[in-house]
Amino acid sequence: MKVADIKKIAVMGAGDMGHGIAEVALLAGYKVAMRDIEQRFIDKGLSRIKESLDKLVEKQKITEENKKAMLANLQTFIDIGESVKDADFVIEAVPEIMDLKKQVFQALDAAAPKHAILASNTSTMSITEIASATKKPKQVVGMHFFNPPVLMKLVEVIKGKKTSEATMQLTYDLALRMNKVPVRIEKDSPGFIYNRITAPTNILLGLMLERGVATPVEIDARMKRAGAPMGPYELMDYIGLDVSYHIARNFSERLSRDHEPASWLKAKVDAGELGKKTGRGIYDWSKGRPEIDLSKAKEDFDPTVFTALQVNEATKLLEEGVVKSANDIDKAMINGGGVAAGPFQLAKEIGYDKLAKICDDLAQKFGIKTFEPTRTLKRGRVP
Ligand code: CAA
Repeated sequence: MKVADIKKIAVMGAGDMGHGIAEVALLAGYKVAMRDIEQRFIDKGLSRIKESLDKLVEKQKITEENKKAMLANLQTFIDIGESVKDADFVIEAVPEIMDLKKQVFQALDAAAPKHAILASNTSTMSITEIASATKKPKQVVGMHFFNPPVLMKLVEVIKGKKTSEATMQLTYDLALRMNKVPVRIEKDSPGFIYNRITAPTNILLGLMLERGVATPVEIDARMKRAGAPMGPYELMDYIGLDVSYHIARNFSERLSRDHEPASWLKAKVDAGELGKKTGRGIYDWSKGRPEIDLSKAKEDFDPTVFTALQVNEATKLLEEGVVKSANDIDKAMINGGGVAAGPFQLAKEIGYDKLAKICDDLAQKFGIKTFEPTRTLKRGRVP
């Protein structure tokens, strides 16, 4: 199958990511089937697609006629078999629970046409393990979008152990057709690029709050003043504290116990305070996006610590052969997080020796092995 042969895309899940991915596919001109387990989830996803398309009409990015045509291209389903029976490409965006993903992939394998590619939007999980639930692992791939899918450009295209080169290329080409910036991940590894590189930063954010080093507003205001589109705690609320929690648990099981979620994060998740989606998380979202008071910025907090941890983790991906080049990593981080420069671009300006020293100091101060500088960082010679 070539990308031009893809006519219909099915999306499993109508939540934060599912509805956004369905909208991206509609904007690219595809017929779309969006499936969820209950009508109320479908209705919510549908109204979010309509609201977002309305915004695009308002901004004259699309016309009212375009919008109507896109909505006419969208069908919704509760029955999984019905939703994929004539799909050429399926993208799964159900909650990050491995057993659930496997159940869904087993059902997709049974019901989707033989030629269909089965992609997972998982943020951290093993594509190889998900693919093991099917009889066609060559046609299973990772296709990881960023939140909000309609605005963020990055799509990580992830090769499972058995994913064929034809499947990788097709998924890459589809992401291009969706007006995205795809980056290939050559080796199935926890968190792929973006979530892996930001994982040590999340450990630090957890520790800073736990130990009373700073408040979320102080750090968020500091980072926004430094040019970040959102503060890091605000971003956690935006993507969902349950998502942050699942990502951290996955890293804790597969990379190191250093990633075990902070106790305050677990408490928030247990209390159902998940951030934007529930109206309360680290911040109050009941009246919309929280106002971060920039005058509260913690002036003595140096954002270079985040850069140091990110560059260090990025060198691990190069050492492990997960990604081909430092350029690909920079491209992913710029387009995934809406920032101006990637970690290696920043490292060249700051100096590898300075970044290695920061990582060393953080590792000592917090007793976290994951923060220790890699050989590549210490040598300052990035391949
Ligand atoms: N559909 C259409 N338009 C939308 C929209 C949507 N869903 N959401 C926002 N917009 C529009 C707004 O209407 C606004 O338009 P105008 O400029 O014309 O007014 C514009 O986008 C900007 O929005 P806002 O003014 O509300 O806010 P902003 O300038 O901060 O931009 C943002 C919003 C693009 C989300 C920006 O804050 C940003 O880039 N944040 C970082 C997001 C990020 O890092 N995402 C990755 C998270 S990690 C992840 O997703 C991976 C994972 O696996 C967990």
